[in-house]
Amino acid sequence: MFLGLDVGTSGVKAVLEDETGALIASAARPLALSHPQPLWSEQNPDHWVEAVIGAVDDLARERPLETAAVSGIGLSGQMHGATLLNRTGRPLRPAILWNDGRSQAKCAELERRCPELHAIAGNLAMPGFTAPKLVWVAKHEPKIFAEVAKVLLPKAYVRYRLSGEMVEDMSDAAGTLWLDVGARRWSEKLLAATGLGLDHMPRLVEGNERSAVLSPELARRWGMGADVVIAGGAGDNAASAIGLGAITPGDAFLSLGTSGVLFRVTDRFAPAPEAAVHAFCHALGGLWHQMGVMLSAAASLAWLARLLETPEAALLAPLGISVERPSPVQFLPYLDGERTPHNDAHAAGALVGLRSAAGRGDLVQAVLEGVAFASRDMFAALARSAQPITELDLVGGGSRSLLWAQIMADVLGVTVHRVEEGEVGAAIGAARLGRLAATGAAPADVCRKPQRLQSFEPRAPQRAAYDAAYAQWRKLYPALKE
Ligand code: XUL
Repeated sequence: MFLGLDVGTSGVKAVLEDETGALIASAARPLALSHPQPLWSEQNPDHWVEAVIGAVDDLARERPLETAAVSGIGLSGQMHGATLLNRTGRPLRPAILWNDGRSQAKCAELERRCPELHAIAGNLAMPGFTAPKLVWVAKHEPKIFAEVAKVLLPKAYVRYRLSGEMVEDMSDAAGTLWLDVGARRWSEKLLAATGLGLDHMPRLVEGNERSAVLSPELARRWGMGADVVIAGGAGDNAASAIGLGAITPGDAFLSLGTSGVLFRVTDRFAPAPEAAVHAFCHALGGLWHQMGVMLSAAASLAWLARLLETPEAALLAPLGISVERPSPVQFLPYLDGERTPHNDAHAAGALVGLRSAAGRGDLVQAVLEGVAFASRDMFAALARSAQPITELDLVGGGSRSLLWAQIMADVLGVTVHRVEEGEVGAAIGAARLGRLAATGAAPADVCRKPQRLQSFEPRAPQRAAYDAAYAQWRKLYPALKE
């Protein structure tokens, strides 16, 4: 039996998979975000650990025999979050997360200090990544910076608390801006530009390699054996790719989680920083990937639901499973700033085209379409550097909506597939990495593609109407930026 743990932003998911890859049980615990100042986004690292332990406690209570039979654990997690530890391994401050924009000004400084940054890290310095956050801490919280002994990413902190080992996998390490992404090793040059050295970094492994063993105390708590292997694991997007069997160059998917991610597997390190495309390691040796990332995808719908004090499902239901024409209202989904293609932490959300006739349905549709238009921007950014994407799997919480899937197909002009277990893809990918590390199985035998539930084709009249609406929508960001 294998356990996958995904430390997300809005919650932790835990899944049990058996030796045939079947999903046996799952559990979830919510996590809160804190925004102490505009642009800031933080979480208490110990809350991740409590939520993970709570979710596995739930599995152990509901499925004691299966939980006790776990021999491999995989970890997946929200990427980039700076978890600063002192010499005794305690967090020095709340973690600064991937959707925190406070270090925008520090990015230019970092690029000045290390002109080879784009070539080595394969990416623009963006405030979401880890290194600029440390430049911010050095400037604004120098006492804390002086005490930093290790910097871990969220899932590596959880691993540390589960096992006592400080280890990171390549896919997540690539999102720090301290990794030589082509060579798959820490770059002393990039670290030095942030005032750090190799000592501040955890050991590196590939996602499917053994990284640690579960602590005897937790193994006892869950009735497990003495040698439960913890795999390197992966950043949540690379873990979703493993869950989707996206391990062949060219495989692509769109994830509508808190963030929105367009992901494509590449057979080499393929940087394209000019369009704010991310070029990172995949979770398996010898593979890389490219991503476009928007910061508020399903988070935009969650925001509207909060504002209207109505559950998301109740907002969506009146619209049915398809719409005939674009909403008269347009939405910019930059509620937490933007990465691909604008790389602008100060970008803000907007609802444009409101009239007194506008109803709740127009706003809901505008939000779905705004996220789809921003996905089309990411699509265009990725298309600049390789073969066009002709079809995509849709995953993440947003993939529950058939309407959103049809809008995506109409706006992107490609076939969009909904897949089985698409909502827990990252946790499933993590469980698979746990299985690979524990058994030494071949990735191709374990990373199978899931069953496709439904496919959505672009519809010609709607596609034309969306082309026109997208052209209009594209003018909003530059106009409002002014
Ligand atoms: C990727 C990114 C987000 C987080 C969300 O670069 O910042 O997708 O990983 O968990």
